[in-house]
Amino acid sequence: MTLSTAAPVAATTPAQVTRPHEAGSAVGTLDAARARSLAVEARIATDPAGFRVLTGERPTGALHIGHYFGTVANRVRLQQAGVEIFLVLADYQVITDRDEAGDLPATVREILLDYLAAGIDADRTTVFTHSAVPALNQLLLPFLSLVSVAELDRNPTVKAETAATGGRAMSGLMLTYPVHQAADILFCHGNLVPVGQDQLPHLEMTRTVARRFNQRYSAADPYFPEPDALLAPSPTILGTDGTKMSKSRGNTLPLGASEDETARWVKRARTDAQRAITYEPETRPEVANLLTIASLCTGSTPEQVADEVGGAGAGRLKALVTEALVEHLRPVRARRAALAADDGPDVLEILARGNARANEIADRTLADVRELMGMVYRHG
Ligand code: TRP
Repeated sequence: MTLSTAAPVAATTPAQVTRPHEAGSAVGTLDAARARSLAVEARIATDPAGFRVLTGERPTGALHIGHYFGTVANRVRLQQAGVEIFLVLADYQVITDRDEAGDLPATVREILLDYLAAGIDADRTTVFTHSAVPALNQLLLPFLSLVSVAELDRNPTVKAETAATGGRAMSGLMLTYPVHQAADILFCHGNLVPVGQDQLPHLEMTRTVARRFNQRYSAADPYFPEPDALLAPSPTILGTDGTKMSKSRGNTLPLGASEDETARWVKRARTDAQRAITYEPETRPEVANLLTIASLCTGSTPEQVADEVGGAGAGRLKALVTEALVEHLRPVRARRAALAADDGPDVLEILARGNARANEIADRTLADVRELMGMVYRHG
């Protein structure tokens, strides 16, 4: 592999690292994924029980408002619509691009508090960690046999993430984690994966693994579903510096932050030199971002918020955004504080239950896979 020569590109724009002759098909894939997402939304509305969602995140830190207004809101929406959801806290994926995973139990607890405060219901949604589900991880071995090194090498998101490590040699786990993600999704026969654009190549990999497994081992009666992507309907929230909100950039507002911290975060947020506030996402992304946040909190459109502020300028806009965030997040933060209190519930117990359920399902899937592959050795 020649990773040191990979172009340093933003992790969120895989299309940029696509070689020119592939660009057309990458765009085509995105259009196709958008069209499929719309069709899937219509099916969810009529048959929520026909779907099982698998999604999740790397436990690298507490969740921030970008997660809250984006992925988490979408999961809560699907959960309320009656779709069954599995959330993986991908602890093995934390060490794809770093040596130190940090204090994982503490981080996992923070994320569980964020989930519950935001409306994830542990009776309807299964939360689990990679490391607690051995049979899931074992699926990686047969799955790896179904893809070529050249295919692994081509993954634009893996390239971008490796480039973002600033010259670090790519680990084998980094190269293969998209296949591990296929195991995350397929162990529970997940057929729907809410994703941002950067995860589309991984979902394509999952569909490839499922298709090839079925062709090779269960052609008469396909064993794995080929999951659909559900492209995120909500906008990306930017950090104080105008780039995508990300813990490693130090530009985030954690969901559980205090009111003071919220005010300080808004104060730090970049705006521009133009006094009159207008909603122009292309030319004024930082101002548009603040308008979007206010809009998500108040239910007004970003244009309405812009009209309200008008010539009063960025100072007025920031006061309005702070107020909107504090008001909107007050009940979420109150719930979070109650859950986090010393006399609150043991949130890690929720994870123990989720891990038990995930193990039951993974054990069954692995037993089926061994059977289909002719790897059951009966005696006596
Ligand atoms: N890679 C995802 C992220 O960084 C987290 C993840 C792990 C995931 N396994 C998954 C997402 C399976 C969707 C499906 O956000």
